[in-house]
Amino acid sequence: MPGAQPARSTPAEGMKREAGYHAAEMVEDGMVIGLGTGSTTWFAMERLSVLIEEGLRIQGVPTSYQTELRARVLRIPLTTLDAYPELDMAIDGADQVDPAMRLIKGRGAALTREKCVAAAAAELVIVVDGSKCVPVLSGPVPVEVIPFALQPVILGIRAIGGHPELRNGIQKDGPVITDNGNFILDCSFPEISEPERLEGILSLMPGVLSCGLFCEFVEKTVVVVGREEGCRTLNH
Ligand code: A5P
Repeated sequence: MPGAQPARSTPAEGMKREAGYHAAEMVEDGMVIGLGTGSTTWFAMERLSVLIEEGLRIQGVPTSYQTELRARVLRIPLTTLDAYPELDMAIDGADQVDPAMRLIKGRGAALTREKCVAAAAAELVIVVDGSKCVPVLSGPVPVEVIPFALQPVILGIRAIGGHPELRNGIQKDGPVITDNGNFILDCSFPEISEPERLEGILSLMPGVLSCGLFCEFVEKTVVVVGREEGCRTLNH
């Protein structure tokens, strides 16, 4: 509409954009990269799309249908983990990041594919706004569980002091169904003092596909924190 003002982005969106664009600039010609899921990764993909238009040659492995569909619109060439089981880099968001760069992920229910891509990548670039950085991980931990094992897994999580809640859909009656055809349990714990231990216990429960604690990638993780005054980069 002539004269219409472009929509203003919020300060949080501005910080996400800073982080996402910074991560996109870290991608080098010829790389095959994992493409995470969520609003901050979207900004990285938006910038990558421009760089590709300018000549950057990359391929991306999407971690969700959302990312796959967005990548097609943005003309980011796609491939698979089957074709490239080892990736140069993965760019992804997070729900919480602690000072040791351990993460909670899975608000968007894409945690299992995100963990596969993080494991396959030589470098994991996590893009967040400052609100995601916390002194101690405390958020609900998403757990992807096969429907067959829902009740035993609920009992198992309660037995270790957790409070699992089946995630329900919005604009869909009943539970969220992940891109892998499973349920999500959002599990609150009184405290997460030993995230590695909790990740191990949850991951070993029969019927659990994966959990949203990402503790084993800290050595290869770079966290890009978007701030109003520019990005701050954290690594080992
Ligand atoms: C997807 O399942 C999540 O792990 C996201 O990567 C995470 O929730 C971060 O999303 P935002 O960048 O939208 O906050």
